[in-house]
Amino acid sequence: MSLKVLIVGSGGREHAIAWKVSQSKRVDHIYCAPGNAGIAEYAECVDIKAMELEKLADFAESHEIDLTVIGMDDPLVAGIVDVFEARGLRVFGPRKNAAVIEGSKAFSKEVMKKYQIPTAAYETFDSAEAALSYLEGASFPIVLKADGLALGKGVLICNSLQEAKDGVKTIMMDKQFGSAGDKLVIEEFMTGREVSVLAFCDGTHIKPMTSAQDHKRAKDGDQGLNTGGMGTFSPSPFYTKEVAEFCEQHIYQPTMDAMKAEGRPFQGVLFCGLMLTKDGPKVLEYNARFGDPEAQVVLPRMENDIIDVFEACIDGRLDEVDLRFADNAAVCVILASNGYPEHYEKGFEITGLENFKGRDGYYVFHAGTKFDQGRIVTNGGRVLGVTALGTDLKDARRNAYEATNWIQFENKYMRGDIGKAIDEA
Ligand code: AMP
Ligand code: GLY
Repeated sequence: MSLKVLIVGSGGREHAIAWKVSQSKRVDHIYCAPGNAGIAEYAECVDIKAMELEKLADFAESHEIDLTVIGMDDPLVAGIVDVFEARGLRVFGPRKNAAVIEGSKAFSKEVMKKYQIPTAAYETFDSAEAALSYLEGASFPIVLKADGLALGKGVLICNSLQEAKDGVKTIMMDKQFGSAGDKLVIEEFMTGREVSVLAFCDGTHIKPMTSAQDHKRAKDGDQGLNTGGMGTFSPSPFYTKEVAEFCEQHIYQPTMDAMKAEGRPFQGVLFCGLMLTKDGPKVLEYNARFGDPEAQVVLPRMENDIIDVFEACIDGRLDEVDLRFADNAAVCVILASNGYPEHYEKGFEITGLENFKGRDGYYVFHAGTKFDQGRIVTNGGRVLGVTALGTDLKDARRNAYEATNWIQFENKYMRGDIGKAIDEA
């Protein structure tokens, strides 16, 4: 049967998903809402925003979509999967009551505590007064987290009491992240290597994909502000077989079992943000979707037909899937607009995209781009993700940085040290 697939989202992650779906022999037509100029190569872009849940369901119904894949967190947390399921539409992603694992840090911490899943010690606060008085007796650095979704910016690492007090004000009183700051989690500061592990889940079974590492800060040497992610590599050399076994036993399956026991079975992709501390791996955060730009290094290494895996997750038979990744490596370097994540200009023409055509092992995933009078122009902070495969991480890094030279646009900015940690492995 030839399937019609709808992908919801418009970033580099959704481009990577659309590309991977386009590789499936089972797929006949791909739509993406709203999509971007790169996704348009594989998919018919539809002018519906990711948060227009009913409109998206109307579209899926009227276009007889066989499978909808939700890339982004906002619609998942808002309950898009429930809206689709209520209309009998097949959809890949967690329901609202499970997506809360990303949507509320207070919820996810509570689950981890209740089911003894390793994570940083913490307290949750409903009022600024209580948070401020707690901080008086705390030791520093300490970590403040707005409870809700905050575009990856709701986490503040505070080195002193004064910084922490300012942070409480920013999140809970000035409401810089809106209602995401109604509650606050204050957490122990941990140190160690960070690893992202995305896992397919069917409500009962969980199958981790290959590991990756993100670079969240804007500038080289992990300086500057936190961003959505400036580059990734996969696999992480620090995620050894022993670490993986520990995580499977103490983190992944226990999280699945916990969510099921809470009456919130998790179907979709569970993103475990881990820190490898000297006391063992601990959960930094969960997300309810593929990572961006983790998807841009993980999916090019995946050998399965992704439609088979999506369907196994929906139908609760993920245990039958033999999830396979190539024995190679991938590096993704984000080309951003200078000034991101703060102020930046956009609308500049992008040239050189054609250099990626027909070159195996090189990908350019669009994040913030659009068509403008027949040209493709910059349209966001993160503009493109350049991914290259290699026989090993160093080879992939060399290839990725070489390929960044093929692309030009005014205000092009990238980190020069994506994958530097490889040298320390
Ligand atoms: P999160 O959105 O929770 O992943 O936090 C964003 C980033 O903040 C993480 O990738 C870490 O680099 C850092 N972070 C979060 N929680 C902690 C913690 N408890 N200790 C140290 N760093 C943290
Ligand atoms: N790269 C981190 C995230 O997708 O949340």
